[in-house]
Amino acid sequence: MGGLLEGKRLLITGIITDQSIAFAAAKLAQEQGAKVVLTGFGRLSLVERIAKRLPQEAPVIELDVTNKEHLDGLADKVREHVDGLDGVLHSIAFAPPSCLGGDFLTAPWEDVATAVHVSTFSFKSLAVACLPLMGTGGSIVGLDFDATRAYPVYDWMGVAKAGLESTSRYLARELGPRGIRVNLVAAGPLRTMAAKSIPGFAVFEDTWAKSAPLGWDLYDQEAAGKACCALMSDWFPATTGEIVHVDGGYHAIGGTS
Ligand SMILES: NC(=O)c1ccc[n+]([C@@H]2O[C@H](COP(=O)([O-])OP(=O)(O)OC[C@H]3O[C@@H](n4cnc5c(N)ncnc54)[C@H](O)[C@@H]3O)[C@@H](O)[C@H]2O)c1
Repeated sequence: MGGLLEGKRLLITGIITDQSIAFAAAKLAQEQGAKVVLTGFGRLSLVERIAKRLPQEAPVIELDVTNKEHLDGLADKVREHVDGLDGVLHSIAFAPPSCLGGDFLTAPWEDVATAVHVSTFSFKSLAVACLPLMGTGGSIVGLDFDATRAYPVYDWMGVAKAGLESTSRYLARELGPRGIRVNLVAAGPLRTMAAKSIPGFAVFEDTWAKSAPLGWDLYDQEAAGKACCALMSDWFPATTGEIVHVDGGYHAIGGTS
């Protein structure tokens, strides 16, 4: 029997280390039969080195999601490796230090604008850049951190994620008539490079592990990666505008323990 993603052509963004959620997703996708093309931001040689740790080495295309030239040229660069795309994973976020860590009231607009540009608007930019390669049955997936509540230290990234959730619903509305699904995976806290750069992020970690009905493993990127793969497969054919929580059930539980 073929894998869940047999024959699928996927574009996966957001690998910077082998702890990246995108790395787990790419590895699982290849194991499930997908052909994977990666994009990398900035330190391309580093991303290429990490890509060699995947079951099959995957090509890496340079993509800064705030760079118009990169976005405009993306479809042609992807076509050098695959003749179309069945799935796209957006696993990208960034906020300047002023936006995280407890100074919510003082972060300047320029920094907030950067956070929203890279972490929110880019979901739309990436979707539009990939559209020429996608057809009916296509799936676009993004990585979320549940934005229904305000958390300590997450600050403007929380606002950016709330925007991402809304962007996802609008994209679902726009792209549904073309047969393209758009969904998010809301992961619990994971010890990746992005998370480690948030001062005080550890405050989530203890409460999450204690409160999540299923418990929570800060080092298990595979659970989120599996959900991404499932959403990019044919097994969610009628699901769009959805947020799938991969957080041990934390979002569903009230109280502190
Ligand atoms: N780690 C967590 O606790 C957690 C929880 C829920 C959701 N998420 C989300 O998962 C996604 C992936 O993060 P991660 O935790 O795997 O961390 P990570 O640091 O491994 O990945 C973040 C990626 O964003 C990329 N990036 C930053 N600016 C970019 C730009 N301008 N253009 C293109 N790429 C850019 C980085 O190169 C990096 O590959 C993010 O959206 C993050 O918010 C993370």
